[in-house]
Amino acid sequence: MEQSIESYIKTLVRDVIGQTLGGLEIQSDRQTYVIANWKMNKNLNETAEFFQKIHSSPDVSVVICPPVQLLYPSHLFIKQSGKPLGLGGQNVHWADKGAYTGESSATMLKDVGCEYVIIGHSERRQYSFEDDELVNKKVQQAIKSGLIPIICIGETLGQKNAMQTEQVLSKQLFGALKDIDSSQFILAYEPVWAIGTGQSATAELAQETHAYIRSVLKQIIGQKAECISILYGGSANEKNASEYSAMPDIDGVLVGGASLHAESFDAIINVFAKGEQKS
Ligand code: 13P
Repeated sequence: MEQSIESYIKTLVRDVIGQTLGGLEIQSDRQTYVIANWKMNKNLNETAEFFQKIHSSPDVSVVICPPVQLLYPSHLFIKQSGKPLGLGGQNVHWADKGAYTGESSATMLKDVGCEYVIIGHSERRQYSFEDDELVNKKVQQAIKSGLIPIICIGETLGQKNAMQTEQVLSKQLFGALKDIDSSQFILAYEPVWAIGTGQSATAELAQETHAYIRSVLKQIIGQKAECISILYGGSANEKNASEYSAMPDIDGVLVGGASLHAESFDAIINVFAKGEQKS
C-alpha cells in the first residue's frame, strides 16, 4: 500500500533524526489510523460485500484485520477495488516456522498480503494466556519480518477499581517493548472493561491515559515516543469517534463491533479524515 510505504519512510527519517538529535524535542507528525478488528466474524460473501461498500481516505490509514482464513480473499478484494486499504492479521506466532498446529507465521501473513498484525489483544491474553514475555517475542518476530505490530495494552475493571491502571500499563509496555530498538509499531490502549460492553472510556479519560502511556514510552524509546501513534479501542463507534479525534494524544481508533458494518466503519473513517482540530 502506497500510503504505508510513505509512512514507513517518514518514520524511518524520524528515527534517524531522533538518533541524531538525541534529547531534543521532535516535532511530531503522527499517522492517524482507523483499524478494524473483525475478531471471529464474517464469511466470504460478507467480506466481499464489505470491501465493495467501504470507502477510504487519503488522510487516514485504514487497516482491516479479518480472521486468518479471510486474509487472502481480503487481499484480492482490496487489490480489485483499488482502494488504499491496509491488511493485518489478528495474531502471529513468534517462531519462523515449525510444528505449531493452528498457528500462522509472520512470513505466512506477509505472503497473503498483510503489512500489520495485532499483538497482545486482551482476548488473547485472556483466552490463550498470552503474557508480556510472549507478546514481546511476537513483537520482535513481527518487526524482524517487516510487519508493523499493533500492540494492545489495557487494564481490567478490577485493576481499574483497584487504582492499578498506570502500574498495569507500565508493566505491559516495558514487557512488550523489551529489547525493541525500533519505532515501527503502533500502540492501542484498549481498557478491557470497555471492550464490547458499550461502556466506552470518556474521551477525557482516554486522553489522560494516552498521555501517561506516551510518558512511559519516552522512558523506553526517548523522544521517538512523540512519533508513535496511540489508538483508542473499546466500544468506539460513529457516535463517540469525534470526541476521541479531538484529543491531542489519540491518533486513531481500533474498532471491533462497529467495524463489522461498512456504514458505521465508514462514518468513523470520515470523522478522523476531517481531522478535528486537536485541543
Ligand atoms: P469493540 O469495539 O467491539 O468494543 O472491540 C474493541 C476491540 O477489542 C478492538 O480490538
